[in-house]
Amino acid sequence: MKRLVFSRPWFHTIDLGHGVITPGIDQSWAKLQLLGFPRSFVGKAVLDVGAYDGFFSFEAERRGAARVVAADDFCWSRPADPMTDGRGFDIAHWALQSHVEKRRITVEDISPDTVGMFDYVFFLGVLYHTPDPLGYLRRVYSVCSKTLILETHVDGLEYDRPMMVFYPGATLGDDPSNFWGPNRLCVTEMLREVGFRGVELVSHQGSRMVFHAHR
Ligand SMILES: C[S@@+](CC[C@H](N)C(=O)[O-])C[C@H]1O[C@@H](n2cnc3c(N)ncnc32)[C@H](O)[C@@H]1O
Repeated sequence: MKRLVFSRPWFHTIDLGHGVITPGIDQSWAKLQLLGFPRSFVGKAVLDVGAYDGFFSFEAERRGAARVVAADDFCWSRPADPMTDGRGFDIAHWALQSHVEKRRITVEDISPDTVGMFDYVFFLGVLYHTPDPLGYLRRVYSVCSKTLILETHVDGLEYDRPMMVFYPGATLGDDPSNFWGPNRLCVTEMLREVGFRGVELVSHQGSRMVFHAHR
């Protein structure tokens, strides 16, 4: 297993047991506290949208979730690049003997009919990867029966009205898939607009914020 793990690049840092930890570029463990990640998911159904290597899906399973669906598309569908071939998730899934369900599906196709309903939906690092953030939030709202955990890039925090900064081309992080930096008020109001009743800011570090939104 060691050779398999260390022969490829990883996004998430996942403890696979037997002393093997995936060498991810993401500080995945440190994020758990920032996310206000529940200690227990016992008996709950969880959907992880944009799951990538699956760290948060596997962690929800480890914390007792009855059903976890890991959904992604972009980073699981480009076999020419090992960062986006989706095999990281498969290797971790196999090493952990996980029962997390893998669904290759875009946010645009998520609905109660395609994936079902979930007590918890994770929407971590995905909101700004679309020209249509409200449309994405409507999708995740439609499959969330209890709590959405949302982590996002933010910008324009000095403005006291709901607003978003638009990044043309690859002007944010040299990545053309980054479109928007909403401010705190904008994230809060968009979450209310799509139907969430309670919205709380859970953490703020640099240009990242975490919100919990409740039905
Ligand atoms: C910045 S990574 C975040 C990964 C993980 N959620 C985390 O926070 O560590 C963004 C992820 O969202 C996925 N993603 C972006 N747009 C998507 C879309 N339209 N449908 C499904 N997944 C998408 C990417 O493939 C990638 O895995």
